Amino acid sequence: MRNVWSVSEHCTGTNGTGFLWERHMTGEENDAAPVPGLTDIWEEQKGMINERYLTFALAKGRLANKTLELFEHMGITCEEMKDKKTRKLIFVNQERKLRFFLAKGPDVPTYVEYGAADIGVAGSDTILEENRNVYEVLDLGFGKCRMCVCGPESARELLQHHERIRVASKYPNIAKDYFYNKKHQTVDIIKLNGSVELGPLVGLSEVIVDIVETGSTLKENGLQVLEEVRPLSARMIVNPVSMQMDRERIREIVVGLRREMAANN
Ligand code: PRP
Repeated sequence: MRNVWSVSEHCTGTNGTGFLWERHMTGEENDAAPVPGLTDIWEEQKGMINERYLTFALAKGRLANKTLELFEHMGITCEEMKDKKTRKLIFVNQERKLRFFLAKGPDVPTYVEYGAADIGVAGSDTILEENRNVYEVLDLGFGKCRMCVCGPESARELLQHHERIRVASKYPNIAKDYFYNKKHQTVDIIKLNGSVELGPLVGLSEVIVDIVETGSTLKENGLQVLEEVRPLSARMIVNPVSMQMDRERIREIVVGLRREMAANN
């Protein structure tokens, strides 16, 4: 008489902790007729869910372009988005009932936490820094770089001796977690919004915590990687309620992306 879903959850990590989250469903629906009267509600709810648009918030720039490329290989296209001159902010694929918008990286987890987007794609740096209530479901394998402590060679000793130093960063939460929780070193953290490498160059800080990709910004400014905090890459995140409501469609997308990524490697 009931619609039963036996759900076994297999967690390898949750909510912005940097681990991947997976859920394995062994769905089993009872064939017996549902309670009379509940049938209509059940059918109506299923209909509403099918009608729903799945909304994606993508971090503007390379991450969004790479994500859309992957989707295109999966047969999910959004022609509207290809028009470079468009001023539109939201793009729709009516056939697949998908909606996309581009946002500033740090805003992506915010849209996803509040349910304004069901799914988001952003760098793991942003996801960790924002620490929002979202599920991290997939490492997309691109946008690879490193979060590092950088500075002039002379600062290496200050780090080794756990001196009380100033650390400039666009990522104060990641910097704090690294120095306080991992290194047990008391430091003063100074939040900057960009061109962080200036910190040690103009005497604002002894070191910085920042993203290193090719290393050319450091090299051109006479700085170097002194310690590695963690590797980074693009991640897919999902709103926890959307995960419940639209688990099949979300699962299909994750499986499709995994398949596409495997084919590309
Ligand atoms: C990022 C990062 C470094 C640079 C690293 O800055 O903060 O400055 O890229 O890349 P590289 O190792 O390939 O040189 P971004 O370009 O985002 O600009 P910003 O400095 O204004 O934050």
